[in-house]
Amino acid sequence: MKLMVVGGGGREHAIIKKLKENPAIDTIYALPGNGGIAADAVCVGIAATDISGIVDFAVENGIDYAVVAPDDPLVLGCVDRLEEKGIPCFGPKANAAIIEGSKIFSKDLMKKYGIPTASYQTFNDMQSALEYLETADMPIVIKADGLALGKGVIIAENRDDAKQAVISMMQDKQFGKSGENIVIEEFLTGPEVSVLSFTDGKTVVPMISSMDHKRAGDNDTGLNTGGMGTVAPNPYYTKEIADRCMKEIFIPTIDAMNREGRTFKGCLYFGLMITAKGPKVIEYNCRFGDPETQVVLPLLESDLYTVMRAVTDGKLAECDVRFSDKHAACVIMASKGYPVHYEKGYPITIPDTVADSVYVAGAALKDGQLVTSGGRVLGVTAVDNTLKSALDMAYEKVRKITFENAYYRRDIGQRALKAEV
Ligand code: AMP
Ligand code: GLY
Repeated sequence: MKLMVVGGGGREHAIIKKLKENPAIDTIYALPGNGGIAADAVCVGIAATDISGIVDFAVENGIDYAVVAPDDPLVLGCVDRLEEKGIPCFGPKANAAIIEGSKIFSKDLMKKYGIPTASYQTFNDMQSALEYLETADMPIVIKADGLALGKGVIIAENRDDAKQAVISMMQDKQFGKSGENIVIEEFLTGPEVSVLSFTDGKTVVPMISSMDHKRAGDNDTGLNTGGMGTVAPNPYYTKEIADRCMKEIFIPTIDAMNREGRTFKGCLYFGLMITAKGPKVIEYNCRFGDPETQVVLPLLESDLYTVMRAVTDGKLAECDVRFSDKHAACVIMASKGYPVHYEKGYPITIPDTVADSVYVAGAALKDGQLVTSGGRVLGVTAVDNTLKSALDMAYEKVRKITFENAYYRRDIGQRALKAEV
């Protein structure tokens, strides 16, 4: 069987490594993949946003099954186009991927169907947004409507910062067209939990919960990043909270999308905040999270291809999806200076003894040598019986990997460890 995975980051590397456990899969192509993924898949230099290029490649190479992992190709209709050519896919169609592609869509959906989320207003002109801010409570959250590489959310502590955020989005077009319309929403507090789920539009099967660490610096200081590390499960996600989420959020969301004629099939990611008033949705993603996937999939005991196929075929209810009761931790090694300015091109040394645990995000092959090519370079995952030992093992492996200007947070999982007791 020939598979194709669209994307080229640590998340895609984790998906590919897991898919490879199925002996029926002969070849996996990664479009575009990266220098590290090249050890596990055949990388093809077609960008994840080049939808026509992806479809042509799939047809010409007789691809049996495609996994479309990143948000942009999903929102651009990659799954629709592949399915038109008869290629079965894992991932939502464009009309369902809008749940991530437009924050205004997802907020309006939650309001219409009574799904708990922060209260909000939407704006399409700057003057009304600025007027609204004159009397709104602070802090407040300003969000660009469209995709903005995970950077379209600004938490403003005071009125001046809030106004500046609106001006930079709507007038200065900091996020291009994504910021032409905005959401201004209530600032919520509480621990955050990521829950990825498999859904075929009828059944929803939550995966093990996880916790991301978004800020660049230790103790959650510094700028927001794509994620500096993750642990799973998330100790704040108790059985009681999980039951409430299923009843108040997960099933209502799947039902709402069906009623809107936008059946969601694939991985639906619930970004949740456990507030004093119960769990609320901070964001939906139409895909696996990064770097959540790097801790969630290593704990999946079932065969990933079988589960994905059940999603595609609408047979998830009949599928056994099992997770280990162990703990996983992933530490991201980045280039010093990320997420602002960083140097690239430094050789990376990964000993064979740890290679299985490494998910490469930003590295290229240069004359056969793996060199850094991005801000987040790689993630290192360990699985063990306790969170503490998984974290110790992950850091031990991190210390064995070397490249110039390597930077990583030293406190991944510390908050989770405190919450456990
Ligand atoms: P997002 O890109 O939607 O994941 O938002 C990035 C981060 O901003 C989230 O992980 C939260 O930490 C924070 N955030 C988003 N919305 C809110 C909110 N309404 N209240 C407090 N924090 C928020
Ligand atoms: N880790 C957050 C995301 O994938 O959007």
